[in-house]
Amino acid sequence: MDSSLDGDLEGVYMELNVLTLCYLIGSVTFIIGLKMLSNPATARKGNLIAAAGMIIAILGTIFLYRDDEGRKLHNYGWISGGIVIGAIIGTWAAKKVKMTAMPEMVSLFNGMGGACAMLISIVEFDHLYQANKALDSTWFSDIVPAGHYLTIAAGLIIGGVSFAGSVIAWGKLSGRVRDFSFKGQHLFNLFLLGLVLTTAVFAYQSNVKGANIPFYITALLALLYGVFFVMPIGGADMPVVISILNSFTGVAAACGGFLYDNKVMLTGGILVGAAGTLLTILMCKAMNRSLGNVLIGSFGAAKPGATTGTRQQGAYKEITLSDTAIVMSYAQKVMIVPGYGLAVAQAQHACHDLEKLLESKGVIVKYAIHPVAGRMPGHMNVLLAEADVSYDKLLEMEEANEEFPTTDVVLILGANDVVNPAAKTDPSSPIYGMPILDVELAKNTIVNKRSMKPGYAGIENELFFQPKTSMLFGDAKKVLQDLIAEIKNV
Ligand code: TAP
Repeated sequence: MDSSLDGDLEGVYMELNVLTLCYLIGSVTFIIGLKMLSNPATARKGNLIAAAGMIIAILGTIFLYRDDEGRKLHNYGWISGGIVIGAIIGTWAAKKVKMTAMPEMVSLFNGMGGACAMLISIVEFDHLYQANKALDSTWFSDIVPAGHYLTIAAGLIIGGVSFAGSVIAWGKLSGRVRDFSFKGQHLFNLFLLGLVLTTAVFAYQSNVKGANIPFYITALLALLYGVFFVMPIGGADMPVVISILNSFTGVAAACGGFLYDNKVMLTGGILVGAAGTLLTILMCKAMNRSLGNVLIGSFGAAKPGATTGTRQQGAYKEITLSDTAIVMSYAQKVMIVPGYGLAVAQAQHACHDLEKLLESKGVIVKYAIHPVAGRMPGHMNVLLAEADVSYDKLLEMEEANEEFPTTDVVLILGANDVVNPAAKTDPSSPIYGMPILDVELAKNTIVNKRSMKPGYAGIENELFFQPKTSMLFGDAKKVLQDLIAEIKNV
């Protein structure tokens, strides 16, 4: 080997070492970032650290990656065009999105991850197909190792389900898509899943020339399964499906990492998959659902006889602002229950002002956080952190339930399903079995919302008609601002 070639090889090895270092930095920053995301105080920095690691990994791949034959990437025009367009759309969407629409956007972004994984599988399959289609008497399984095809098919199916499911979840969260189910949907879903797996196996067992048709049918069926998987899931059970779709995207991305032997993609995929799986388990626990139900789909829909809509349960009583101000000023302990309506009203700052004012009058103020309050995991924590509410004032559901019997006033701000006693008392209710905040154990409950309309699950709330409950109607922000003014006069 001549010395100039030696020099070239040295340069190549050096580049590959730098690339490995980039991937190592990427992987480590993902882990550090994820750890920091678990605390509101460090979450923002954690996000930036992980994003910086991602940029390093992407730049490393673009400029230093070489394929098995030692070739570098060459189509820089397409790559930079894609990055620029993606960055512009992403930045515009993130800046424009309202806080209340964040869950929809997160769902859509999650779906894009699934779509990418699906496209990677399609591209890789097509490479194999184009390179070998002339061999029309050879079986696809003779030229592609089973493990390699399994990774391609898994990325295709899981990515497809995640993409289609996330788009439906986005539609449901934004109110554009309604729950839809039919008799025998469990069996239909299982049949469809069976069909997806069968066509995937069939593609592998076909002769090379004909393998593409069953492969693309598999892709279409996976998309269809994603739609039917999420379509029937009833209102209040969406948190579980959102987190499971999250884990699907992670697993699909990890398949891409396996395909390209790309360590950082593998680490990122595994982290998202594992975090999504843990979140699914937590959400199942929060909703008291089994994972088996989630995987088959079609759970949580209203059962016959369920208390839905606006059936009148009796009379409710209203409370005035001045009475609310008096009751709260003379309370020893007040528990605030935030819900989706607080986010809609963007009343988190007014809520924090109320907390400070009450504390200045010697009242103990805490917050009771239900794990599925709002529209995304941790929604209330993020919302209250935005207003600098101290993290140690936030009680998790179990802790809060222990404190309600010693609470004088519970102030419910735009929460509904998470305080609905039907979850405990009405077996026909779609939320039956979901643990709720036991606010009725407190001495008084004041509910702020704009009307008697139901919450996300679309069911009436018996709490509003109970003797210890009073309704304080109005937009949460306006009500809180007026309440603060009243309390100052007490
Ligand atoms: P919901 O049950 O959706 O109730 C929110 C209430 O806020 C509504 O009844 C609404 O009544 C009121 N509201 C709306 N805008 C308001 C405003 N400007 N001021 C005052 N009140 C306002 O909320 P929740 O108790 O937080 O429960 C969350 C629900 O969403 C659960 O069913 C959960 O399963 C589901 N979900 C959660 C997630 C995650 S991951 N957290 C994801 C998807 C779905 P009015 O219209 O009468 O004002």
